[in-house]
Amino acid sequence: MFIQVSNLKKSYKTGNVTTPVLNNVNLSLDSGEIGVILGPSGSGKSTLLNIIGGLDRCDSGSVLVDRTEVTRLSDKKLTDYRRKKIGFIFQFYNLVPHLTVGENIEVVSNISKSPLPTDEVLRDVDMLDKKYRFPNELSGGEQQRVSIARAIVKNPILLLCDEPTGALDFLTSREILKLLQKINRNFGTTILMITHNEAISSMSNRIFKVRSGEIIENKINKNIIPAERIEW
Ligand SMILES: Nc1ncnc2c1ncn2[C@@H]1O[C@H](COP(=O)(O)OP(=O)(O)O)[C@@H](O)[C@H]1O
Ligand SMILES: [Mg+2]
Repeated sequence: MFIQVSNLKKSYKTGNVTTPVLNNVNLSLDSGEIGVILGPSGSGKSTLLNIIGGLDRCDSGSVLVDRTEVTRLSDKKLTDYRRKKIGFIFQFYNLVPHLTVGENIEVVSNISKSPLPTDEVLRDVDMLDKKYRFPNELSGGEQQRVSIARAIVKNPILLLCDEPTGALDFLTSREILKLLQKINRNFGTTILMITHNEAISSMSNRIFKVRSGEIIENKINKNIIPAERIEW
């Protein structure tokens, strides 16, 4: 397995109150697959994704990604892992407002070992003609395309998407999902995506349903459909 999460536990402490967030989570995904994590708000989805991506630490359990035991990495090695191997896409794009589209990509390629050419990734997401625009001169869908370009420019082995269409209308969402499916097919990038939209799971290989910090359902989708046919 490319991703193997075993017996993962995490709680947050505020003052002397401990709130369990992840309770014995097990999950696995093969290389080149798309996995979807479904579940209500507050169920622990982002915490799970952040631990897999090295943005957060767990209390116990193990996270194996491409044979790396992520939970055992030193802080420095964890930063390296996150920077070199993982692409993140969030609901609210997180672009740097005073940098152009091209510069937003180059911020990442400058710290990568073998980045792809900026123009190439901008062409992949159909944003090359807007290379010199600033984020506030773009629509939400266009900003998300740029954030996808920024995530793939370092040629990551894993793309982690936290509600990537959460702020977009239906048609724009579908364009973004088509783009993610294209990246998965063309580059073989493994994708793990959080959504609370059940319809999106039809384009994935595996579906994980989370409730109150536990995986309550884990199923394989044998009938994967092209993103352009998703309806909701
Ligand atoms: N940094 C934090 N400190 C304390 N509690 C947190 C923190 N981050 C998340 N939580 C709590 O953990 C639970 C799960 O959060 P999260 O993983 O963001 O859920 P989801 O992404 O499914 O909405 C929520 O109850 C949330 O309030
Ligand atoms: Mg979340």
